[in-house]
Amino acid sequence: MTTLRLHTAFHAGEVDRRVFSGFVEHLGRCVYEGICDPGSPLADSDGWRKDVVDAIRPLAMPLMRYPGGNFVSCYDWWDGIGPRSQRPKRLDYAWRSVESNQVGLDEFVKWCKLVDTQPMMAVNLGTRGAAEAQAIVEYCNMPAGTKWADERVKNGSKDPYGIKVWCLGNEMDGPWQAGHVPAEEYARRADQAAKMMKGVDRTIELVVCGSSARGMHTYLEYDRVALDYCWDHTQYVSAHRYSANDIQDSDWFLAEGVEIERVVEDYRGLFTYVRGKRRSDKQIYLSFDEWNVWYKNRHGDGDWREAPHLLEEVYNLEDAIVCAQYLASFVRNADLVKIACIAQMVNVIGPLMTKKDGLLVQSTYYPLAWYCQHARGKSLKLLVDGPTYKAGKRGDVPAIDAAVTFDEATNSLAIFVSNRDRNRIHPVSIKLDDKQFASVIEAVQLSGTDMKLDNTWEHPDRVKPTPISATVLSPNELKLTFSTAGTAMVRVKLK
Ligand code: AHR
Repeated sequence: MTTLRLHTAFHAGEVDRRVFSGFVEHLGRCVYEGICDPGSPLADSDGWRKDVVDAIRPLAMPLMRYPGGNFVSCYDWWDGIGPRSQRPKRLDYAWRSVESNQVGLDEFVKWCKLVDTQPMMAVNLGTRGAAEAQAIVEYCNMPAGTKWADERVKNGSKDPYGIKVWCLGNEMDGPWQAGHVPAEEYARRADQAAKMMKGVDRTIELVVCGSSARGMHTYLEYDRVALDYCWDHTQYVSAHRYSANDIQDSDWFLAEGVEIERVVEDYRGLFTYVRGKRRSDKQIYLSFDEWNVWYKNRHGDGDWREAPHLLEEVYNLEDAIVCAQYLASFVRNADLVKIACIAQMVNVIGPLMTKKDGLLVQSTYYPLAWYCQHARGKSLKLLVDGPTYKAGKRGDVPAIDAAVTFDEATNSLAIFVSNRDRNRIHPVSIKLDDKQFASVIEAVQLSGTDMKLDNTWEHPDRVKPTPISATVLSPNELKLTFSTAGTAMVRVKLK
């Protein structure tokens, strides 16, 4: 039996709903054939896929990162504005693809309105620099009267977009990145851009590139140099992580949460260190703006085609359980992680897949939807006491991973629990010290004995939520039981 002890006064602060954000990159079939497909019977009159909008809108994602990813590091944003017939086709270095530029900044802002989100823009600090970054802020955020703002008005948008969060490049630590440079050089480039961008609009918030993976030999050091140099102009450091079960060991893979938590802790230490070194009171936050499972389809060569099939990862049950652990970690660390983006939304390592006349919902969509829709209010601190299991090379790891939010407005708890142990039945007892449980509003799980089970076009509902039994045993105790590995959400009304 695992016991989770809670007290609503013990919390890590308010969950910033921006940790439930998404990412759309000009990569493969994410933009074209994913969100936009004028040739599809499922598209609206502007070419937007209505079924995709209908699947993303209910998530109410606060931010949608755009336009890349690796793509942004060699992208000229002005190629994607103005009359579509005059936009150039370009070679995209990042994914060896052809970019038609039929979707650009103005179209993306319109799509964001459809799915009820705000753009989180990345600027090109690979092949471009401060001047181009300043210009795009002017285009997006300034009232008419100057060159780029007037250009926006000419393109049909009188009012500024007011885009708040901006990424200073993407994964500049990676040798694969167009314009990759050592940390010191990136730091100077980012700081110059930051000054000019903020010079145009003082209200924007900036995310400086950190490490693209924990395995990078410059891990944390690249981040330290960039953060220290850009300290005065930045609010967030970006971290990325993709989980992989390359070694085909599900017991090991299901304990990914341990490593995810470690990454967050690494950054907590780094921010404290740099702040101390600078004798500063400023709080820097983590923007975990690319996270997901990604290892089955790494093919990233578009062979100079438009909208090639790239990174079309198929997700199974164990992948969904790992995704749930990312989200749990962001919630538990609510004081530090303020932005996080699942990478990506559709077709490219996405929870949604499209074909011309259909939409497939992958396993990973479900835990994402639970968190997006129900993780609200304070992130409660958890006292967890329970058995461990053998997680392969990771050794003994607690079987249960959890996060709990308390929403004062509705006087309810949302309890998110994952069982990583495939081999034993795990009852979980949730004990609330200062309040009483009234009734269970909803109790759902994704679980099963076959960790490799996935949804296919032929069998689209093989992995989908089923009820889990959650019983109020006494006014202060709630019990749920996992019969096999899985992830669950229980919402409870309090008295
Ligand atoms: O999300 C796919 C790619 O992964 C992104 O373009 C890049 O930033 C990361 O390496």
